[in-house]
Amino acid sequence: MKTIIEPFRVKMVEPIRMTTRSEREEILRDARYNLFAIRSEDVLIDLLTDSGTSAMSAAQWGAMIQGDEAYACARSFFRFERTIRELTGYRHILPTHQGRAAERILFGVLGKPGMVVPNNSHFDTTRANVEHVGCRAVDLPCAESHDLAAEVPFKGNMDLEGLKRAIGEHGRERIPLVMVTITNNSGGGQPVSLANLRAVSELAHSHGIPVYLDAARFAENAYFIKLQEEGQAARSVREIAKEIFRLTDGCTMSAKKDALVNIGGFLATNDEEVAVKMRNLLILTEGFTTYGGLAGRDLEAIAQGLEEVLDEDYLRYRLASTRYLGRKLVELGIPILRPVGGHAVYLDARGFLPHLSAVAYPGQALAVAIFREGGVRSVEVGQVMFGRRDAAGVEAPVERDLVRMAIPRRVYTQSHVDYVAEVMEEVWKQRAEVKGLRISWEPPALRHFTCRFDLA
Ligand code: F0G
Repeated sequence: MKTIIEPFRVKMVEPIRMTTRSEREEILRDARYNLFAIRSEDVLIDLLTDSGTSAMSAAQWGAMIQGDEAYACARSFFRFERTIRELTGYRHILPTHQGRAAERILFGVLGKPGMVVPNNSHFDTTRANVEHVGCRAVDLPCAESHDLAAEVPFKGNMDLEGLKRAIGEHGRERIPLVMVTITNNSGGGQPVSLANLRAVSELAHSHGIPVYLDAARFAENAYFIKLQEEGQAARSVREIAKEIFRLTDGCTMSAKKDALVNIGGFLATNDEEVAVKMRNLLILTEGFTTYGGLAGRDLEAIAQGLEEVLDEDYLRYRLASTRYLGRKLVELGIPILRPVGGHAVYLDARGFLPHLSAVAYPGQALAVAIFREGGVRSVEVGQVMFGRRDAAGVEAPVERDLVRMAIPRRVYTQSHVDYVAEVMEEVWKQRAEVKGLRISWEPPALRHFTCRFDLA
C-alpha cells in the first residue's frame, strides 16, 4: 500500500521558533514545570490539544468573508442551521461559543439537584457542569476499557449492564438524560459502535429517558465504525453519521474539534418544550438565538467545516496519521493505550516510569521530560488532573496516569510526527533518569491548569 499522504497542500505558513535544550530548561523553570504556563512561541510541536487548533481551509476562510453579521436572523445562521439539521436531523439547533456553553445550558435546563447522569465517560467540563447543578456524574465505560493494552475495537462503548442497573436504581425520575461521548476522550479517544449506541438508545428510550450525544468527535467515530464494525464498510461516513445522530434526541457539540474551526459549538434537541427553556438561557448568557455568542463568520466556518470533516480522504488521513505516531511508539517498545484512538496517542506514564510512585506525578514528569528533550508539548491526564487530597492533604492514587499527545487537525506533516517519535525514542532511552515532581502551590479546584511544581 502507498503512503497515505496529507490530502491538502500548504497555502499559508506559520513559522516555528527553534529552541535549544538549555533554553527549554529555562522555559520549564519559568513555567514552574506546568506546561499550560509555557508560551506557544516557545513550543516546537504543540500536542496539548486538538481543540480549536485546526488549520482552516481556503473554503472556510472564504466563507468567513461572506459572514452576515446581523444581530438577528443572519443569513449565516440559516446556513449553519441547514447544514446541521441535514446532518443530524435534530429539530432545534442553538449556536454556542463552545462545547461547555452547550453543556451548561443542557444541564441547566434538564438537571435538578439529586439527579444522576450516566455517560460512557464524562469529559471534565461535562462532569463539572453536571455537578454544578447538583447532579451526580456517573461514568459507565465498558469493561474492556480498563485494560490499557487490550487491542479491542470500540473500547469507548458504554457498559449496558451498568446502565440497566443505574436505571433500575434511580428510575426515569432521577435520570434526566443519558449521555454518550463520541469518541470517548477521557477513555483515550476510543470509538463507540453503532450497535452499542443503538442498544443504549433502545434501553433508555424504553424507560422514557432521552439520549444526548457529546458529539465533539462524531466524524472520527463514524469513520471508525466504517472501518471496524460489521456490515458498515460499504456505507458512506455521512450516512453512518446521520444514523448516529438519528438514534438520539439531541447533542452538545464542541465545534473546535470535528467542525475544524478555532471557536464555536452548538446545542441541539428534538424536544420543543426543552428547546424553549434552552433558548431563554442562551439569550441570558450567550447571545440571541441566531448567533449564541459567535460572529456570523464563525457560523459560516462551522457550516463549511462540517462538510469538509466528512470527506473520507480527510478521515482516512486523519486516523492514519494518529495511528502512525502510535505505531512508531509501539515499535520502540513504549507503553501506550491501545488501540490508538482518533485524535491522540496516550502514553502510559506508569509503564514508562515505573520507578515513580503515583504521587511523584509520573505523567507530569514524563510530559516535562518530553518538552525538555524536544520542545514537544503534551498534557498529563492522571494524578495531577484527577487526584484529590483528603483532610490531611494526602492523595490516593487515581486509576491511571496518562500523557495525551493530541494531534491538531491538518496542522502537522509526517516529518513533524517523525520528529516527535525521535524525541520519544530519546526520552525512552533515558527514562531511568527522569525525576518525579512535587506540587509547591495549587488552587482549590482544577489544579492542573495553574499549579506549580518543583523537581523532587
Ligand atoms: N466534550 C468533549 C468530549 C471534549 O473533548 C471537550 C473539550 C468538550 C466537551 C468541551 O468543549 O472545549 O469547546 O468547551 N476538550 C478539549 C480537549 C478541551 O483538550 O480535549 P469546549
